[in-house]
Amino acid sequence: MEITKHLYVYIYVYGGPEEMSRRAAETFAETAERKIRAKGSFNVALSGGKTPERLYALLGAEYAEKIEWGKVHIFWGDERCVPPDSPESNYRMASKALLSKIDIPDKNVHRIRGEDEPMSAALAYEEEVRRHFGLKAGEAPVFDMVLLGLGRDGHTLSIFPATKALFEEERLVIDNYVEKLKAHRVTMTLKAVNNASNALFLVSGREKAVILREVLKGTEAIYPAQMVRPGKLVWLIDKDAASGL
Ligand code: 6PG
Repeated sequence: MEITKHLYVYIYVYGGPEEMSRRAAETFAETAERKIRAKGSFNVALSGGKTPERLYALLGAEYAEKIEWGKVHIFWGDERCVPPDSPESNYRMASKALLSKIDIPDKNVHRIRGEDEPMSAALAYEEEVRRHFGLKAGEAPVFDMVLLGLGRDGHTLSIFPATKALFEEERLVIDNYVEKLKAHRVTMTLKAVNNASNALFLVSGREKAVILREVLKGTEAIYPAQMVRPGKLVWLIDKDAASGL
């Protein structure tokens, strides 16, 4: 039986990265409050890279007392296979900007162990996700929110074009070798992300204008970012990134 999944896509354009980040922080806080009120918890997967850093800093500076962080569980959508104190680490970036500024129990911070061998780190993380969400075999988690970025090649998370992560249909988390970067990554798969209630892309800067136009206007899904189909998909972009639309 063909189940038609309606995808609701919302695109909001802001004057610059600061305004975009502030709106993202408000959206994060509003969603957290709504989910905590409804079910007592907020399960969110953070993205890496540079774009979300300001969002995390705002959450750490202005929302430290406004969100019930003890009811928030923080995961990562992907991680570089580096130690947690590496400048490359997505965990390190979020820890400096956000985790070090809020009162969140260690057990609520679900770090991908980038320092471990990639395959075992991926297997361990998948087990942690399954355990947290109480998943049976074959089930996918329902994240309340997944934060995402967009690479200039159309990748998101660490699902890069023409890498095995793109075709993974069973696993929730896999190790993914990225030839162009000559680097291993651990990433959630589309199976894990597409079951989320909300996904929030943050895209900023003129250098993303071309790929953003291709992703948003493309008639067929040829980029990984176009294969993200959660319950509700929101793009928060700034004017420079939107200049090609
Ligand atoms: C990562 C991210 C990746 C990122 C994009 C955009 O680990 O790098 O998960 O998917 O979101 O590469 O990165 P920027 O925000 O730095 O442009």
